[in-house]
Amino acid sequence: MEYSQKVIDHFMNPRNVGEFENADGVGTVGNEKCGDIMRFYIKVKDGVITEARFKTFGCGAAVATSSIATEMVRGKTLQEAVLISNKAVMDALDGLPAAKAHCSCLAEEALHAALRDYAQRSGVSIEGLKPAQVKDHGH
Ligand code: FES
Repeated sequence: MEYSQKVIDHFMNPRNVGEFENADGVGTVGNEKCGDIMRFYIKVKDGVITEARFKTFGCGAAVATSSIATEMVRGKTLQEAVLISNKAVMDALDGLPAAKAHCSCLAEEALHAALRDYAQRSGVSIEGLKPAQVKDHGH
């Protein structure tokens, strides 16, 4: 199993690790099978995500996907952020080994969970937001 240089870079030097004291949205998701947990924090201003941070207790691919996801959402509108798929996250990392593809689902779900939290708190609706659930991504 081979990792791309980008995956290795984001694993070794993860961007935006941490949390915000006053995040506008926080989402936590876990994968029951591997036990990995990811928490995603966003700051939102005028409908745009200004900053994102994450904490991941998980494998290297989970760290790398959440790291790059924090970079991908910055500056995006809520409507654009909702379109960031696990595939887009993988593509941004120049791919993941097939056995690790599910780790990128965790990044997508954590982002959606944070967006759901924001939508709920602020009373806005974001079209295309995924409902909470999805426990199994086929380990
Ligand atoms: Fe579980 Fe990567 S092994 S998220």
